[in-house]
Amino acid sequence: MKKAVILILAITICVAAWKGFASAADDVQKQIDEIKGALPKFAIPMREVGDRFQNMYFAAQNGNWGLAYYMSKYMNGALNAAKVTKPAEYQVWEAFYTDTFASVNKAIFDKDFKAFKKEYMAMIKSCNACHEGMGYGFIKVIKMKAPADNGINYTVKSKAEDVPK
Ligand code: HEC
Repeated sequence: MKKAVILILAITICVAAWKGFASAADDVQKQIDEIKGALPKFAIPMREVGDRFQNMYFAAQNGNWGLAYYMSKYMNGALNAAKVTKPAEYQVWEAFYTDTFASVNKAIFDKDFKAFKKEYMAMIKSCNACHEGMGYGFIKVIKMKAPADNGINYTVKSKAEDVPK
């Protein structure tokens, strides 16, 4: 075979391989986008945030500090998918949980209900401030008179350190 023919063949094979590779990459990107689209953004996890936040109060009030901290921990964890689906908004949540909410967590670790109640009530305002800031001023959290979930015993005596890492 002439050199020129070999060269043309080689180029043709390379182009075909590249096209195959590019379309496989497109497929992978399409699948990633589809998975991202199916992950929750803020609305679904916020329902869980709302419930866990309400439950936390009754756990703390009855000395089930382990349950109170568990509720706090997974209230935060509920928003994990938003790291991927709403990265900018997630940063605001992250700052809220690590800075603002720290005072509630501290009271839980200190088993100090008086401090907990004060910080907890102040927190409701902070929750609502974020709702307003993000254009959801019509979502106003209020304190419930009973926990959101009734299927748990809130009076088991425990401490925050009891929550497995
Ligand atoms: C980073 C900002 C931010 C913070 C902080 C925040 N929220 Fe939200 N929350 C939102 C947004 C945004 C929505 C609306 C969801 C949407 O449509 O994407 C929402 C919606 C809600 C809803 C309605 C969910 C539903 O669809 O039924 C509840 C309940 C709620 N939040 C509770 C809370 C509580 C309790 C706190 C405080 C512990 C809190 N939120 C803190 C941003 C925030």
